[in-house]
Amino acid sequence: MKLKGKSLLSLKDFTAEEIRFLLDESKRLKADFKAYKRDKSLSGMTLGMIFQKRSTRTRVSTEVAMYFLGGHAIFLSSADIQLGGGETIKDTSRVLARMVDGILARVYAHEDVKELAKYSTVPVINALSDKYHPLQILADLLTIEEHKGRLVGLKLAWVGDGNNVCNSLLIGCAKMGLHMSVATPKGYEPPNDVVSMAKDFAEETGVKIVISNDSVAAVTDADIIVTDTFISMGEEDQEKEKLAAFKDYIVTEELCSNAKSDYSFMHCLPYKHKEATEEVFESEHSIVFDEAENRLHTVMAVLNAFMG
Ligand code: CP
Ligand code: NVA
Repeated sequence: MKLKGKSLLSLKDFTAEEIRFLLDESKRLKADFKAYKRDKSLSGMTLGMIFQKRSTRTRVSTEVAMYFLGGHAIFLSSADIQLGGGETIKDTSRVLARMVDGILARVYAHEDVKELAKYSTVPVINALSDKYHPLQILADLLTIEEHKGRLVGLKLAWVGDGNNVCNSLLIGCAKMGLHMSVATPKGYEPPNDVVSMAKDFAEETGVKIVISNDSVAAVTDADIIVTDTFISMGEEDQEKEKLAAFKDYIVTEELCSNAKSDYSFMHCLPYKHKEATEEVFESEHSIVFDEAENRLHTVMAVLNAFMG
């Protein structure tokens, strides 16, 4: 699989075969990791990690992965590097690319991670932007496959905000053969360009992508129910209006009773205690911590494939 040297900005740029390769590699590394074997494929290599926003899972999984792979990760909070003081993305990219072997970046505007990749001679990995969160979706697909034994033909329901995680799931599900039904309040649907791209991919895999404002219809007969915070990072000033708009889109046990009896509940975390009830979050259906752990195994596969 020729992924080495490429950037990972969105799963839309990768084929189902490439995504399958990354999932299979994640499984291999997870098995090795559990046996405390270490793959030193990134020995002597460095990764610069720009974070314009906070992070627990993405930062820790990537730092631990670089350690296990024999490389070194450098945490670059945008408040500490000159990027936060007015140096441009373009110059930051050209400087970092002369010193490190890969750049991982969590940014506000998706255009910024694209700009980083445009001027970088080393791979750039999107660690979340306002539009996409591809690393999360690799972990989600791995978790679903582990729990359900397959991906193809499952129905995933998204209830909540049509945000970055929803966008990436739309692409990941459409490419990997899962039906996806999204229910959001009016005005909070995923963007048209993402929906139309997902529908194009879905035509090739023969799955249905449905966008509506009907949460019961979305979760009916679902194998997996997914939600995320109603207030993404950078939207703190919209908290009051969004919480009001989303009051009928909380994932409750009553809503989940419309799903298959063995449905799984997923959430990329952090859980903000508004988008799903504690009962659902703590229930036997919840696989959120397996999902979180899989961030480590999948990012190891990504770093190996794109930089190794
Ligand atoms: N899910 C996720 O990306 O979590 P962090 O914000 O903690 O990295
Ligand atoms: N949609 C959330 C995901 C956090 C991992 C955000 O962008 O803040």
